[in-house]
Amino acid sequence: MTDQAKDRVYIFDTTLRDGEQSPGATMTHDEKLEIAELLDEMGVDIIEAGFPIASEGDFRAVSEIAERSKNSVICGLARAQINDIDRCWEAVKHANRPRIHTFIGTSPLHRAIPNLTMDEMADRIHETVTHARNLCDNVQWSPMDATRTEHDYLCRVVEIAIKAGATTINIPDTVGYTAPRESADLIKMLLERVPGADDIIFATHCHNDLGMATANSLAAVEAGARQIECTINGLGERAGNTALEEVVMALKVRGDIMPYETHIDTKKIMHISRRVATVSGFPVQFNKAIVGKNAFAHESGIHQDGMLKNKETFEIMRPEDVGLAGTSLPLGKHSGRAALRAKLKDLGVDVGDNQLKDIFVRFKDLADRKKEVFDEDILALVTAAMTDG
Ligand code: KIV
Ligand code: ZN
Repeated sequence: MTDQAKDRVYIFDTTLRDGEQSPGATMTHDEKLEIAELLDEMGVDIIEAGFPIASEGDFRAVSEIAERSKNSVICGLARAQINDIDRCWEAVKHANRPRIHTFIGTSPLHRAIPNLTMDEMADRIHETVTHARNLCDNVQWSPMDATRTEHDYLCRVVEIAIKAGATTINIPDTVGYTAPRESADLIKMLLERVPGADDIIFATHCHNDLGMATANSLAAVEAGARQIECTINGLGERAGNTALEEVVMALKVRGDIMPYETHIDTKKIMHISRRVATVSGFPVQFNKAIVGKNAFAHESGIHQDGMLKNKETFEIMRPEDVGLAGTSLPLGKHSGRAALRAKLKDLGVDVGDNQLKDIFVRFKDLADRKKEVFDEDILALVTAAMTDG
């Protein structure tokens, strides 16, 4: 790996595969094509477009996304079975830059499901990764439930996959069980112990069951992982996957302590977030980092006053950088006179100090009865103050 590649973190988006696996998040064919196009345009390095063997619909979607792809690598998922891998290749092979992603569960719990011994599973990994590599020169392999797999066995199977031709090794925290320090130690351990580890890219794939997916992903990057697997709005199985917007903005905002770059055009974040929320039917929580309705909104008087004087007082990033028009200062019962004055100015209402005092009293009274005070409410208060006064 070159030094330059080491500082670059590749963004692998799996909204259309792991994201779509959220119960109820199914997207139509056309919606998937639209989201894939937006991901490609925003600079996502690798798009996991689906699981081609899962259904005829998934196969068609992955094939068409591959055919229409421009810059992004298009990846399909396949279990560790020859027919799965062949089907995946049939779907992704039309892409400018195809990738096969094959996986098998390596932890004791997951090994028990196909009832394979450790040696039998190791042979299966060798056979299937070799097969994938004979079809495609870009192969990703994942030991599912890696964070609950014995370290010696994990090192052994990762080495087998690398020798069989895998170019990316993804380390999934399938059940969101790990914590930041452990996530970092695992990547460090693999880089130190596995022969050939320096020649491939390690990826981190975290789930959010304990709310640590973003922290775990960034810790893995600090330890040497160079691909983050994530989804828009953190969509995904159970509590979801690492949110793309969170890791990308964390790397952008805290480049001083995490000197890694992505090629994401962050100004496109808000639009794709809204489209994914709409097509998946999963609304974004109001206080969600980066893309929530309140992420750049300030209601309390002290905060609004600070924001009106200097935006950096209460904002660590610019709303414009994620594609918003600007900060919002919604008026509510916690708002102060400075925000009311600014709002009146915005609305083109010019009032003197005494009138402002009167309107402010009326505004506080209304705000006690109403969650949010809108522009029309303010204009009505101004009219009332003028009439009564
Ligand atoms: O969470 C997981 O382990 C996965 C694999 C298929 C990579 O999504
Ligand atoms: Zn997953």
